Amino acid sequence: MQPKLIIHGGAGSSLKGKGGVEAVRQSLYKVLEEVYALLISGVSATEAVVRGCQLLEDDPRFNAGTGSVLQSDGQIRMSASLMDGASQSFSGVINVTRIQNPINLAQFLQSSSDRVLSDFGASELTRELQLPSYNPLTDLRLEEWLQERQDNFKKTMAGVVAEKELVESSAGRGTIGVVAFDTDGRIAAGTSTGGKGFERIGRVSDSAMPAGNYATQYAGVSCTGVGEDIIDECLAPRIVIRVTDGMSLIEAMQRSFHEASANKRDLGAIALDANGTIAWGKTSEVLLAAYHNGEKMNDTLELSEESIVGVAGS
Ligand code: GLY
Repeated sequence: MQPKLIIHGGAGSSLKGKGGVEAVRQSLYKVLEEVYALLISGVSATEAVVRGCQLLEDDPRFNAGTGSVLQSDGQIRMSASLMDGASQSFSGVINVTRIQNPINLAQFLQSSSDRVLSDFGASELTRELQLPSYNPLTDLRLEEWLQERQDNFKKTMAGVVAEKELVESSAGRGTIGVVAFDTDGRIAAGTSTGGKGFERIGRVSDSAMPAGNYATQYAGVSCTGVGEDIIDECLAPRIVIRVTDGMSLIEAMQRSFHEASANKRDLGAIALDANGTIAWGKTSEVLLAAYHNGEKMNDTLELSEESIVGVAGS
C-alpha cells in the first residue's frame, strides 16, 4: 500500500511575518521528507511516528522537547504519547523532565505492563534506561518566561512557535504530532508537548491522554490546542470511533469540528484513515500541519481563518 503521512507543529492565532511562515514550512517539510522515505523503505507506522516526533521534538521552533515552554515555576515538564493502531495500545509519559525525547519513553512503554508513567516514575525510567540527562531550555523560551514574569503572568498561553518575530503575535497552543499509514496498512499516532506554558505544577496535558492522541486499525488522530478544550471534547477518540462506526473520515472530522466550534473550543487535529485519506481540522486561526500523500507535500499554513476541516485526498 502507498504510505501516507501527516504531521503538525501546533495551532494558534495568526502567523504574522512571511519569513516566519516559510521557516516553519521548511522545518515541517524536512521532517516529512525523512519520515516518508522511512515509510517507503518499509518501516512500521509506529517507528515512523517515533522518528517524526523525535525530529519535531529536536526542533527548537516547536513547543516539545528542545524549545518546550516553561511552567509557572520556571521549570520545563514535558508529556508525550504513542498509540499503535494495529495493536490498539496506548503508552505515554506525563510531566517528565531532563530528557531530549519524551517520545522515546512512550515507545519503550509500548511493551511494558505499566504503560503510562507520570513525573517521578518517568524520571526513574529515564535513569533505568540510562538515557543522558538533557536540558531542553532555549534562550528564547527563557526570555519569554522572564518577560511574562515581569508582566505578572497576564498571558494564559505561551507562543505557538519560538520565532522572535512571531512570539508577540501568536498566542499559542504548541504541541507536535505525527500520524502515519504504512505499507502494510497499519496506522499509528504520536503527540508530544511542553504543555501550555505558565501552568500550575502538576497540570496534566491532553497530549499524554487518549483524548489528544488515539489510533485504531481504522483511523488515527493527533490533537493540538488548549488541552482542557481537547479533553472536554474527547477529540481524538471521538473522531476515531465515528470512523470505526462507519462514518467517512471527512464526515467524522466535519461533525466533530462543528461541535467543537459550537462549544467555542480552541484546538486542531490531524488525521488519517485506513483508506489512506489524510485530513485536518481546526477551530483556532492557524494549524501548522503538513502532509505527504505519496505524490507531493502540502501544508495548512496559509489557509483562510474560516476553514474548519480539509482533506488532502487519498
Ligand atoms: N495541547 C497541549 C496542552 O494543552 O498541554
